[in-house]
Amino acid sequence: MRLRVGDLFAGAGLLSGAFTRAGFKTVYAAEADHRAIATFNLNHGKVAECRDVRQPRDDVRCDIIVAGPPCQGFSTLGKRDRADERNVLSLAIARWVRPSGARVVIVENVPQFLESDQWHRLTERMRRLGFESRAWVLDAFDYGAPQRRKRSFTVYSKIGLPELPRPVKHRITVRDAFEGLGLKPDVDGMHTAPTPSKLAYERFVRILSEGSRSDLMTRSPHLCPPSWRRLGPDVSDVWGRMRYDAPSNTLRCCFQNPSKGRYIHPVEHRVITLREGARLQGVPDSWKFVGDRTSVARQIGNGVPIPLGYAVAKSVSELFS
Ligand SMILES: C[S@@+](CC[C@H](N)C(=O)[O-])C[C@H]1O[C@@H](n2cnc3c(N)ncnc32)[C@H](O)[C@@H]1O
Repeated sequence: MRLRVGDLFAGAGLLSGAFTRAGFKTVYAAEADHRAIATFNLNHGKVAECRDVRQPRDDVRCDIIVAGPPCQGFSTLGKRDRADERNVLSLAIARWVRPSGARVVIVENVPQFLESDQWHRLTERMRRLGFESRAWVLDAFDYGAPQRRKRSFTVYSKIGLPELPRPVKHRITVRDAFEGLGLKPDVDGMHTAPTPSKLAYERFVRILSEGSRSDLMTRSPHLCPPSWRRLGPDVSDVWGRMRYDAPSNTLRCCFQNPSKGRYIHPVEHRVITLREGARLQGVPDSWKFVGDRTSVARQIGNGVPIPLGYAVAKSVSELFS
């Protein structure tokens, strides 16, 4: 029988997709955003519901809970602001554990999560529930994603602790990820970049391979607003062009906006498309996404790269054998 997964803060289901690939079956998912839920249900069967994780259900049964709470709460790191609503989000995971019967719980987040008050409190709660824990910081590039993205995984377990997932032998690049996509836009919009303004296009043309905003400031100051000069030329990763023969930088939710990161296509004068972003996260082309461009980019950028999630799932699956 396949091991059952309950997915909390499920998003579009990239982490669930990774566990499915490793042989698990997601039987329940809780998520607050209705477009992410629609995407989840199109690709994983209708198991996701609109539910605030702070309101746990007591009728969900599973073997493992996976949870990727939002990571924005860490600005309060060190302030120990117990009134901050975001603290409660990750702590709410513990309330799902006992009724579900889960023997393993995995919490994924940014590396800083491991130093947060929330992590210590959650770990203490899980200890009182009888779980021991092990935490890793893993880079998606080492596990077969064409992307540099460091994420923490805390494994809470009642059945022993897993081995560190083994890095892949052959790491892949942006060129590998985009293979076969072609440069022509598609009809469903997944492989169509937003049309740049005239000014944005002029900038794209002048940003060379690996280049970024600092190139523009030295070579084409007339294309740079005064606000850039006030900030100085050192911010190298905005208006940045990807390299074909390297991993991409961390893909964030706003990857359709060149001013937010290194999201310009390696050779084209545009940002990467949603499909290219999905490929950088290891999402199969067969997945369908629901929502407008901003929402779909958020669903993709929020997710755990599937090859990284798969490596964690494989390692954890050994605990059940
Ligand atoms: C980092 S994303 C999860 C990504 C997901 N694990 C994946 O791999 O695709 C966090 C998700 O939590 C959702 N969320 C935020 N607050 C929530 C709440 N109180 N209850 C349920 N979901 C919530 C957000 O809408 C977002 O989709």
